[in-house]
Amino acid sequence: MRVDIVTIFPEYLDPLRLSLVGRAIDGGIVELQVHDLREFTSDRHHSVDDTPFGGGPGMVMMPEPWGQAIDAILAAGARQSQQRHATLVIPTPNGSRFDQSQAQSLAECEWIIFACGRYEGIDARVAEHYRDRLDVRELSIGDYVLAGGEAAVLVMGEAVIRLLPGVLGNVQSAGDDSFSPNRTGAALEAPAYTKPVMWRDLEVPPILLSGHHGAITKWRDEQSEERTRSFRPDLLN
Ligand code: 6GU
Repeated sequence: MRVDIVTIFPEYLDPLRLSLVGRAIDGGIVELQVHDLREFTSDRHHSVDDTPFGGGPGMVMMPEPWGQAIDAILAAGARQSQQRHATLVIPTPNGSRFDQSQAQSLAECEWIIFACGRYEGIDARVAEHYRDRLDVRELSIGDYVLAGGEAAVLVMGEAVIRLLPGVLGNVQSAGDDSFSPNRTGAALEAPAYTKPVMWRDLEVPPILLSGHHGAITKWRDEQSEERTRSFRPDLLN
Protein backbone atom coordinates (compact mmCIF):
# COMPACT_ATOMS: atom_id res chain seq x y z
CA MET A 1 0.00 0.00 0.00
CA ARG A 2 1.15 3.50 -0.77
CA VAL A 3 0.36 6.19 1.82
CA ASP A 4 0.86 9.93 1.31
CA ILE A 5 0.18 12.33 4.16
CA VAL A 6 -0.06 16.12 3.67
CA THR A 7 0.31 18.30 6.76
CA ILE A 8 1.83 21.57 7.99
CA PHE A 9 3.53 19.53 10.78
CA PRO A 10 5.44 16.70 9.05
CA GLU A 11 7.24 15.72 12.30
CA TYR A 12 3.86 15.02 13.90
CA LEU A 13 3.72 11.84 11.79
CA ASP A 14 7.16 10.55 12.84
CA PRO A 15 5.67 8.03 15.31
CA LEU A 16 4.31 6.09 12.31
CA ARG A 17 7.89 5.01 11.69
CA LEU A 18 8.03 3.20 15.05
CA SER A 19 6.77 -0.18 16.18
CA LEU A 20 4.45 -2.31 14.06
CA VAL A 21 3.77 0.30 11.40
CA GLY A 22 7.47 1.19 11.22
CA ARG A 23 8.26 -2.46 10.55
CA ALA A 24 5.63 -2.55 7.79
CA ILE A 25 7.40 0.43 6.19
CA ASP A 26 10.87 -1.11 6.62
CA GLY A 27 9.54 -4.40 5.21
CA GLY A 28 8.15 -2.70 2.09
CA ILE A 29 4.49 -3.50 2.85
CA VAL A 30 3.78 0.22 3.18
CA GLU A 31 5.40 2.99 1.19
CA LEU A 32 4.97 6.15 3.28
CA GLN A 33 5.60 9.71 2.15
CA VAL A 34 4.89 12.72 4.34
CA HIS A 35 4.60 16.11 2.59
CA ASP A 36 4.78 19.65 3.98
CA LEU A 37 1.77 21.62 2.71
CA ARG A 38 3.79 24.86 2.88
CA GLU A 39 6.00 23.61 0.05
CA PHE A 40 2.97 23.94 -2.21
CA THR A 41 2.32 27.61 -1.44
CA SER A 42 3.42 30.40 -3.76
CA ASP A 43 3.52 33.50 -1.54
CA ARG A 44 6.48 34.77 0.44
CA HIS A 45 4.91 33.87 3.78
CA HIS A 46 3.87 30.35 2.75
CA SER A 47 0.30 31.09 3.85
CA VAL A 48 -2.10 28.19 4.12
CA ASP A 49 -5.14 29.78 5.79
CA ASP A 50 -7.45 32.79 5.65
CA THR A 51 -10.58 34.14 7.35
CA PRO A 52 -13.90 32.38 6.68
CA PHE A 53 -16.38 33.83 4.18
CA GLY A 54 -19.64 34.54 5.98
CA GLY A 55 -17.78 35.39 9.17
CA GLY A 56 -17.21 33.35 12.29
CA PRO A 57 -14.24 32.46 14.46
CA GLY A 58 -10.94 30.95 13.39
CA MET A 59 -9.26 30.42 10.06
CA VAL A 60 -9.97 28.14 7.11
CA MET A 61 -7.31 26.39 5.03
CA MET A 62 -7.23 27.83 1.51
CA PRO A 63 -7.97 25.49 -1.41
CA GLU A 64 -5.03 26.49 -3.62
CA PRO A 65 -2.15 24.93 -1.63
CA TRP A 66 -4.23 21.76 -1.18
CA GLY A 67 -4.95 21.58 -4.92
CA GLN A 68 -1.25 22.02 -5.73
CA ALA A 69 -0.20 19.40 -3.18
CA ILE A 70 -2.77 16.77 -4.15
CA ASP A 71 -2.21 17.29 -7.90
CA ALA A 72 1.56 16.90 -7.43
CA ILE A 73 1.12 13.72 -5.39
CA LEU A 74 -1.32 12.28 -7.95
CA ALA A 75 1.07 13.10 -10.81
CA ALA A 76 4.04 11.52 -9.02
CA GLY A 77 1.97 8.44 -8.21
CA ALA A 78 0.81 8.11 -11.82
CA ARG A 79 4.42 8.34 -13.06
CA GLN A 80 5.36 5.54 -10.68
CA SER A 81 2.46 3.31 -11.64
CA GLN A 82 -0.31 3.95 -14.17
CA GLN A 83 -3.89 2.98 -13.24
CA ARG A 84 -3.30 2.95 -9.49
CA HIS A 85 -6.26 4.73 -8.02
CA ALA A 86 -6.16 6.85 -4.94
CA THR A 87 -8.50 7.26 -1.99
CA LEU A 88 -8.44 10.74 -0.45
CA VAL A 89 -9.09 10.69 3.29
CA ILE A 90 -9.90 14.02 4.92
CA PRO A 91 -9.95 13.73 8.72
CA THR A 92 -12.59 16.04 10.18
CA PRO A 93 -14.86 16.00 13.24
CA ASN A 94 -17.66 16.70 10.73
CA GLY A 95 -17.14 13.47 8.78
CA SER A 96 -18.66 10.01 9.00
CA ARG A 97 -17.39 7.76 11.78
CA PHE A 98 -14.11 5.87 11.31
CA ASP A 99 -14.67 2.40 12.76
CA GLN A 100 -13.26 -1.11 12.33
CA SER A 101 -15.25 -1.76 9.16
CA GLN A 102 -14.00 1.52 7.68
CA ALA A 103 -10.46 0.42 8.67
CA GLN A 104 -11.01 -2.86 6.84
CA SER A 105 -12.34 -1.07 3.80
CA LEU A 106 -9.32 1.28 3.73
CA ALA A 107 -6.99 -1.71 4.13
CA GLU A 108 -8.20 -2.87 0.68
CA CYS A 109 -7.06 0.38 -0.95
CA GLU A 110 -3.81 0.41 -2.90
CA TRP A 111 -3.17 4.09 -2.30
CA ILE A 112 -4.41 6.46 0.42
CA ILE A 113 -3.75 10.20 0.56
CA PHE A 114 -4.47 11.74 3.97
CA ALA A 115 -5.10 15.50 3.96
CA CYS A 116 -4.58 16.87 7.48
CA GLY A 117 -6.49 20.08 8.10
CA ARG A 118 -5.82 22.46 10.98
CA TYR A 119 -7.78 25.48 12.19
CA GLU A 120 -11.47 25.35 11.22
CA GLY A 121 -10.85 22.84 8.45
CA ILE A 122 -10.13 22.86 4.71
CA ASP A 123 -12.17 24.94 2.21
CA ALA A 124 -15.06 22.60 1.30
CA ARG A 125 -14.36 22.91 -2.44
CA VAL A 126 -11.28 20.68 -2.09
CA ALA A 127 -13.38 17.61 -1.18
CA GLU A 128 -15.96 18.59 -3.80
CA HIS A 129 -13.36 19.03 -6.57
CA TYR A 130 -11.63 15.69 -6.02
CA ARG A 131 -14.85 13.72 -5.59
CA ASP A 132 -15.14 13.52 -9.40
CA ARG A 133 -11.72 11.93 -9.78
CA LEU A 134 -11.07 10.12 -6.51
CA ASP A 135 -12.76 8.12 -3.79
CA VAL A 136 -13.05 10.92 -1.19
CA ARG A 137 -13.84 10.02 2.43
CA GLU A 138 -14.32 12.63 5.16
CA LEU A 139 -13.83 10.73 8.42
CA SER A 140 -14.07 11.47 12.14
CA ILE A 141 -12.44 9.29 14.80
CA GLY A 142 -14.99 10.17 17.49
CA ASP A 143 -17.27 12.75 19.00
CA TYR A 144 -14.70 15.22 20.31
CA VAL A 145 -12.71 17.96 18.63
CA LEU A 146 -8.97 17.75 18.00
CA ALA A 147 -6.75 20.68 17.02
CA GLY A 148 -6.02 19.09 13.65
CA GLY A 149 -6.18 15.92 11.59
CA GLU A 150 -2.66 14.70 12.41
CA ALA A 151 -3.50 12.79 15.60
CA ALA A 152 -6.49 11.25 13.79
CA VAL A 153 -4.20 10.09 10.95
CA LEU A 154 -1.89 8.41 13.48
CA VAL A 155 -4.96 6.55 14.76
CA MET A 156 -6.44 5.67 11.37
CA GLY A 157 -3.06 4.81 9.83
CA GLU A 158 -2.24 2.35 12.60
CA ALA A 159 -5.70 0.76 12.53
CA VAL A 160 -5.48 0.27 8.75
CA ILE A 161 -1.85 -0.79 8.41
CA ARG A 162 -2.03 -3.50 11.09
CA LEU A 163 -4.70 -5.19 8.93
CA LEU A 164 -2.44 -5.49 5.87
CA PRO A 165 -1.29 -9.02 5.04
CA GLY A 166 2.09 -9.74 6.64
CA VAL A 167 1.98 -6.94 9.24
CA LEU A 168 0.74 -9.01 12.18
CA GLY A 169 2.43 -12.37 12.71
CA ASN A 170 0.28 -15.54 12.72
CA VAL A 171 0.65 -15.53 16.51
CA GLN A 172 -1.38 -12.35 16.72
CA SER A 173 -4.28 -12.20 14.34
CA ALA A 174 -6.76 -9.46 13.66
CA GLY A 175 -9.62 -11.96 13.35
CA ASP A 176 -10.55 -12.00 17.04
CA ASP A 177 -10.22 -8.27 17.65
CA SER A 178 -12.96 -6.41 19.41
CA PHE A 179 -15.25 -4.99 16.68
CA SER A 180 -14.04 -7.56 14.13
CA PRO A 181 -17.01 -8.83 12.08
CA ASN A 182 -15.70 -12.38 12.85
CA ARG A 183 -16.87 -11.86 16.42
CA THR A 184 -20.50 -12.69 16.91
CA GLY A 185 -22.68 -10.89 19.43
CA ALA A 186 -20.81 -9.06 22.17
CA ALA A 187 -18.10 -6.82 20.83
CA LEU A 188 -15.59 -6.25 23.65
CA GLU A 189 -12.94 -8.87 24.38
CA ALA A 190 -12.75 -10.76 27.67
CA PRO A 191 -10.06 -9.66 30.18
CA ALA A 192 -6.60 -11.22 29.74
CA TYR A 193 -4.14 -12.60 32.30
CA THR A 194 -0.57 -13.91 32.36
CA LYS A 195 1.97 -15.12 34.94
CA PRO A 196 2.21 -15.05 37.89
CA VAL A 197 -0.93 -16.93 38.97
CA MET A 198 -1.01 -14.84 42.19
CA TRP A 199 -0.16 -11.12 42.11
CA ARG A 200 -0.66 -8.88 45.20
CA ASP A 201 -3.25 -11.30 46.57
CA LEU A 202 -5.17 -11.31 43.26
CA GLU A 203 -5.54 -14.68 41.59
CA VAL A 204 -5.99 -15.50 37.90
CA PRO A 205 -9.53 -16.90 37.35
CA PRO A 206 -9.02 -20.67 37.94
CA ILE A 207 -11.00 -21.65 34.81
CA LEU A 208 -8.14 -20.25 32.68
CA LEU A 209 -5.73 -22.73 34.35
CA SER A 210 -8.09 -25.72 33.94
CA GLY A 211 -7.06 -26.76 30.44
CA HIS A 212 -10.75 -27.22 29.50
CA HIS A 213 -10.86 -25.35 26.22
CA GLY A 214 -14.64 -25.58 25.84
CA ALA A 215 -15.19 -24.19 29.34
CA ILE A 216 -12.62 -21.44 28.74
CA THR A 217 -14.31 -20.35 25.52
CA LYS A 218 -17.68 -20.28 27.27
CA TRP A 219 -16.24 -18.23 30.18
CA ARG A 220 -14.65 -15.75 27.77
CA ASP A 221 -17.91 -15.35 25.86
CA GLU A 222 -19.75 -14.63 29.12
CA GLN A 223 -17.09 -12.13 30.24
CA SER A 224 -17.21 -10.50 26.86
CA GLU A 225 -20.95 -10.08 27.02
CA GLU A 226 -20.88 -8.78 30.59
CA ARG A 227 -18.15 -6.29 29.75
CA THR A 228 -20.04 -5.05 26.70
CA ARG A 229 -23.26 -4.73 28.71
CA SER A 230 -21.56 -2.65 31.37
CA PHE A 231 -19.12 -0.52 29.29
CA ARG A 232 -20.75 -0.34 25.85
CA PRO A 233 -24.47 -1.18 25.97
CA ASP A 234 -24.79 0.72 22.68
CA LEU A 235 -22.95 -2.16 20.96
CA LEU A 236 -25.50 -4.83 21.93
CA ASN A 237 -28.09 -5.47 19.23
CL1 6GU B 1 -10.55 13.33 12.14
N1 6GU B 1 -10.14 15.74 13.15
C1 6GU B 1 -10.29 16.66 14.08
N2 6GU B 1 -9.71 17.86 13.94
N3 6GU B 1 -11.01 16.47 15.18
C2 6GU B 1 -11.57 15.28 15.31
C3 6GU B 1 -11.44 14.27 14.36
C4 6GU B 1 -10.72 14.53 13.28
N4 6GU B 1 -12.14 13.19 14.77
C5 6GU B 1 -12.66 13.53 15.92
N5 6GU B 1 -12.33 14.79 16.25
